[in-house]
Amino acid sequence: MSADAPVTAICPGSYDPVTNGHLDIIGRAARIFDRVIVGVVNQPLRKKKTLFTAEERAGFLERATADLENVEIMVFSNLLVEFARDNGASTIVKGLRAISDFEYEFEMNQLNRKLAPEIESAYVMASSEYSFLSSTGVKE
Ligand code: PNS
Repeated sequence: MSADAPVTAICPGSYDPVTNGHLDIIGRAARIFDRVIVGVVNQPLRKKKTLFTAEERAGFLERATADLENVEIMVFSNLLVEFARDNGASTIVKGLRAISDFEYEFEMNQLNRKLAPEIESAYVMASSEYSFLSSTGVKE
């Protein structure tokens, strides 16, 4: 993207499991940023328990993004903004589907900005074919 320092973005999430909707967002982020780190949340204290372990979720992502050269998969268990800082990322990229995603993402945006004002969040609108695709639906 830039001639000087490469610009790194984080695509964070539970990815339980990764869906074609996630891959759409990751692939589009990979066209915008020099380097994209897909951050897989491994946080046992979260209210919602995952079906797959963090290692399994990361493994699915490794296979699904193998053709994207500037994408790497990492598991994290600290705060998202700390993980972004530790990896030199300037931007958090998230996908937005229907209106229902907005309220949660708006709250996370305020939280993350308060903790790390230097890290910007950017939102990629879901492609129409994935507007109602969710990991929850896939699992069920
Ligand atoms: O869609 P998800 O799986 O709920 O997204 C996870 C994540 C980390 C992107 C979201 O919860 C977020 O932005 N959290 C900010 C607070 C934080 O850093 N929590 C620690 C990891 S749970």
